[in-house]
Amino acid sequence: METITFIELAKLLISFAILAPSGHNSQPWQFQVSNNEIIITPDYSKRLDVVDGNDRELFISLGCATENLMTAARHYGYDSKYDFSDGKIVVTFSKQDICNSDTLFDAIPKRHTHRGNFSGARIPDNILQNISARILQDNASVKIYNSESREAEIIMQKIAEGNEIQMSDTAFKRELVSWMRFNKKHVNETHNGLCYNVLGFPSTPKPIGKRLVGMFLNPKAQNKTDNAVNASASHFCVFCVKDDNVKNWVDLGVFLERFLLKITSEGISYSFSNQPCEIPSLKENLRQNLNLTAYPSVIIRLGYGEEPKTFAPREEVKL
Ligand SMILES: Cc1cc2nc3c(=O)[nH]c(=O)nc-3n(C[C@H](O)[C@H](O)[C@H](O)COP(=O)(O)O)c2cc1C
Repeated sequence: METITFIELAKLLISFAILAPSGHNSQPWQFQVSNNEIIITPDYSKRLDVVDGNDRELFISLGCATENLMTAARHYGYDSKYDFSDGKIVVTFSKQDICNSDTLFDAIPKRHTHRGNFSGARIPDNILQNISARILQDNASVKIYNSESREAEIIMQKIAEGNEIQMSDTAFKRELVSWMRFNKKHVNETHNGLCYNVLGFPSTPKPIGKRLVGMFLNPKAQNKTDNAVNASASHFCVFCVKDDNVKNWVDLGVFLERFLLKITSEGISYSFSNQPCEIPSLKENLRQNLNLTAYPSVIIRLGYGEEPKTFAPREEVKL
């Protein structure tokens, strides 16, 4: 690659960072570039007050973006490391003699949150064990359960209980609907949020879309959808932090995104089902029932699925 200035490199790396997942596709990150650093800070205007009152998922999303940034840096011949303090993530870079491209870089634009049921095919256990063994981290960990296990039963039960609580909560539903985008014009106004074409809904004028979605936002309908996805999943993963604090949430985001890139490069799909971690009483219940010493923070289901026709949009980055 010909020599480029750090600001050009930073813009390139950030274009990969923003492809990270985020709660409701809120994209709660801001970037600053200085010397040989990229600083990632939370954009609190994107806060999800109801579902994520303590900003846990917000900081996990920032960690995911950090992992993409560092994976892209490696591809372009830079070593990088991140440090979290004073509420911001500082990523520093140093030039290497050789570029270390790997399959993880190629997975960045391919990774997506799967919508709908999986094929039902089983993922060989050893693939998942190898992946988790290669990405060990101090503060973050993952427990992987076969969908026929007793633990998976417990997780499915907690997802159902989570749906009962969230889908009966007017404030939760109002916040969720405020992040939904109902037609192309609506998508183009924001380039964020949960978009009709990604979720597999027809395009509708906003007021009609809101009314239609409102009819489906109830515990019975959500449990029907989740039960079908759960039944088609091969494995359930519970990502945990050693202690529930902001630094560990960032570390978990880095760890989670590395895991997601690895499974993507193996042709494995996943979907989130984070309800049990979003409701404090269920989270504690889950922790006890699964005999976990660490704190559950993210739940995903794994399986095989088709490539999406449409990817979730991203906002343009302002530096
Ligand atoms: C911490 C975190 C929690 C999430 N929780 C859920 C969830 O409970 N249910 C869900 O459908 N998607 C969840 N998502 C996925 C986002 O909706 C998704 O990342 C976003 O819409 C962008 O789409 P993409 O992942 O395909 O790029 C979560 C993402 C993150 C980072």
